[in-house]
Amino acid sequence: MTIRFTRHLWLFVFVLCTALCAQTAFAGAHGGGRPDKKGILIVAFGTSVPEAKVALDNIDRKVKGAFPGVPVRWAYSSKIIRHKLAAEGERNLSPTQALAAMADEDFTQVAVQSFHTIPGEEYHALMRQAHAFAGLPKGMRQVVVGYPLLGVTADVEAAADAVVANLPKERKASDAVVLMGHGTPHPGDIYYAGLQYHLWKRDKNIFVGTVEGTPTLDDVIAELTARKIKTVYVEPFMAVAGDHARNDMAGPEPDSWMSILTAKGFAVKPVLRGTAEVDDFVAIWLDHLRAVFDTLD
Ligand code: CO
Repeated sequence: MTIRFTRHLWLFVFVLCTALCAQTAFAGAHGGGRPDKKGILIVAFGTSVPEAKVALDNIDRKVKGAFPGVPVRWAYSSKIIRHKLAAEGERNLSPTQALAAMADEDFTQVAVQSFHTIPGEEYHALMRQAHAFAGLPKGMRQVVVGYPLLGVTADVEAAADAVVANLPKERKASDAVVLMGHGTPHPGDIYYAGLQYHLWKRDKNIFVGTVEGTPTLDDVIAELTARKIKTVYVEPFMAVAGDHARNDMAGPEPDSWMSILTAKGFAVKPVLRGTAEVDDFVAIWLDHLRAVFDTLD
């Protein structure tokens, strides 16, 4: 009796499963099983400086070259930049606007690549936005986010190599090179000190300072003075040579790095080039994009 009951039970389970599978297939024919459509979303801080746009154009070219046939969309994470450009008639999407548009375009899986420098505020906000989109009903199945330029230690080492491989041509070994990082109150600020460590393993006369974090310009000046440096090349350690590079770094105002270092007696040579203009740096971002793109099933 018990055996017969069990057989009936198994039969019932079998019939139920068959019915459910048929229903799933039926639902699939009506849009539940959409064909895969993979895409890439590039997210940069953005820039309102037209001359700095070359860095973003380079990113666009390199991503499309590395992922032929994959649709690429763009977003700017800075609201200030988006609004400034909108006032000039240029519309740019935020990451959430771009992800919503991609869901509407029937993308099933999206690899989002952060073209920020450190895993700071912008990157962590992007992670939360992407994860929220991956969970929406009728939305996208997978949304993954690639590390910014600096992620694991190997990235910091690769970035230090890229700095050394792309030094100003006229720079002599006794000249200092000072990188201007953005800096942040976010815990990710520690990456700048980390980068300094790996740079000093390669070249004692390359320094990292930040506008809003640590190391500060005062920290850098103390090092320059201790090493009796005379000539200083300053260049941004930011994706684009935008407002910070042109004003805070190389601008004529008395509080620019150019002015402060000049007043301290150094011969200062500014280099207006964003890291995203340099292929060795872009290659690191592309590695991160490749790594997450390959996780899309
Ligand atoms: Co800023």
